Amino acid sequence: MPTRINPSILAADFANLERELGRIASADLVHVDIMDNHFVPNLTFGPPVVERLLQVSPLPFDVHLMIEDPERWAPGYAEAGAFSVTFHAEASTDPVALARRLRSIGARAGIALKPGTDVEPYLELLPEFDQVLVMTVEPGFGGQSFMASTMPKLGRLADAVRSSGLDVWLQVDGGITEETIVIAAEAGANTFVAGSSVFNAADPAEQIARLRAAADEHTHAH
Ligand code: DX5
Ligand code: ZN
Repeated sequence: MPTRINPSILAADFANLERELGRIASADLVHVDIMDNHFVPNLTFGPPVVERLLQVSPLPFDVHLMIEDPERWAPGYAEAGAFSVTFHAEASTDPVALARRLRSIGARAGIALKPGTDVEPYLELLPEFDQVLVMTVEPGFGGQSFMASTMPKLGRLADAVRSSGLDVWLQVDGGITEETIVIAAEAGANTFVAGSSVFNAADPAEQIARLRAAADEHTHAH
């Protein structure tokens, strides 16, 4: 199972996003955090910015929607060309219908769980999704500390994915560093979002390589 490193541009220099995208070209996907100032108390940007950034990005986009009413807004990100669109379970009224809609547009469908959200009700929905995002901080801000208390959810998901034979990516997001990535990899994650640890490094490409090596060494053979 390959390790994927997805830097979050929330921690990038917003005055130079094209250059920042170039500095992370050795990553797998670009993690793009969309916040609406309602689902979370922070605000980023919307579809026109995503569309324009896609035109100058060397890598496809892994869009993370921290927004209310994803039924209304998520399909637009798939139509804009996102490779993957992940919406929050807590915000969705019909996750299965929305995932099917996203897939029908041609995007991978992801579902995200806040730290306090139980994973059990979602295990039986795994065939409907390409990715499950286990938030390892409360969504809303970069630079927070990793919550190891979320790791049991990854274990449950990894077991369910393994026994189903499905290829569902298990993503973690929040507080990922060279140290915490090892904990998440051992718990069963294979797709890692890292904002501050990549963009605050002197050389983001070297930091991506360090994170990848640390995760690879501890990833379970599925
Ligand atoms: C937080 C966002 C994250 C954030 C991670 O709500 O979803 O993607 O950018 O930032 P770090 O890696 O700094 O915790
Ligand atoms: Zn995110």
